[in-house]
Amino acid sequence: MHRVWAEIDTAAVRHNLGAIRQRVGDTRVMGVLKANAYGHGAVEMAKLLTGEGIDAIGVGDSGEALELRDAGITTPILIVGGIIPGEMPRVVANDIEVNLHTVQMAEDLNAEAGKQNRTVRVHLKVDTGMGRLGMQPFEAVPFLHNLRRLRNLELVGLCTHFSLPYERNPAFTTRQIEHFNLAVEVAERLGYDNLILHSSSSLAVFGRDDAYFNMVRTGIGLWGLLPGDLQGWESKLKPALQLKSRILFLKDVPEGTPIGYSRTYYTPAPTRIATIPIGYNDGYRTSLSNRAEVLVRGVRCPVVGRVSMDYTTIDVGIVPDAEVGDEITLFGRDGDGRITLDEIAHWADAIPYEILCGLGRRVARVYM
Ligand SMILES: Cc1ncc(COP(=O)(O)O)c(C=O)c1O
Repeated sequence: MHRVWAEIDTAAVRHNLGAIRQRVGDTRVMGVLKANAYGHGAVEMAKLLTGEGIDAIGVGDSGEALELRDAGITTPILIVGGIIPGEMPRVVANDIEVNLHTVQMAEDLNAEAGKQNRTVRVHLKVDTGMGRLGMQPFEAVPFLHNLRRLRNLELVGLCTHFSLPYERNPAFTTRQIEHFNLAVEVAERLGYDNLILHSSSSLAVFGRDDAYFNMVRTGIGLWGLLPGDLQGWESKLKPALQLKSRILFLKDVPEGTPIGYSRTYYTPAPTRIATIPIGYNDGYRTSLSNRAEVLVRGVRCPVVGRVSMDYTTIDVGIVPDAEVGDEITLFGRDGDGRITLDEIAHWADAIPYEILCGLGRRVARVYM
């Protein structure tokens, strides 16, 4: 009944969580569900993961956090990046945890929490080499010293983020870990105990076992779409999402037929062109034009002509029995055929994360 849909295998997500737990042992696991759970549907994935006893949830901003609270999710939720002052009232009111990066931010959040007569659970974010958010390890010393004055903030965690890819420079990640350890030592010496310490995202979960501390933050690993070659760990995960559409229109065309906007493709021989109702509005990018392949009845067929907002054209000349209504796999499996997310990302000149996060609103999410 759908024109374009993402088929999401919930058993695969459970399997991947199991593989992550097997890898990290007793370490707590945060499921990172920002960007609509990387296109998988944040509310559905939060319900699934909380049902599996996930320890915490990570989101990108207060809107994403509230969506989950409104859906009845009571698990601790952390905004894994930063917040702007305008987000503070709703963060405080809805029991959302945040990272602190500056003294000013701590003061402002404390004032808002005081106004609402509440306490906010906060994590201190330390920049150990990512260069994006967080304070330098040496700044953490006076900061932590003064934090006790802010009576409406409760420090519950300390975190950092790796820039990776560690395969190319493991020493850099090692240095990040060392710098993070300095901040951890300071916190402990100042009497902060039982802190949640977290640094590893999925690549580090599978690539380094010396950086788990007592919680890992994993997104892409839960979806089974770990990029790279991690000594076979990636093959233990199961991709959870497949992108599908169906043939809306078919026509036989002679040699020399122009296809699509700007006539970027002319058929080199008589063939059959199928039009499928997925376009860049759905996240199937124009950079895939004349580059990508899709599966029709398990057979790879090329995308020809330019991808438009709502439609993509493919050459199905090598699948003579293709019919209107046939299911098309943009990525995922069909019979013996398989198109991986890495392939799509490569064709699109993007990273796999971008393709998932770019899936549009019109793409129906179908849970299996
Ligand atoms: C701070 C932070 N932690 C964890 C993650 C999860 O990363 P991954 O999806 O690679 O596991 C992200 C994602 O971008 C992040 O920004």
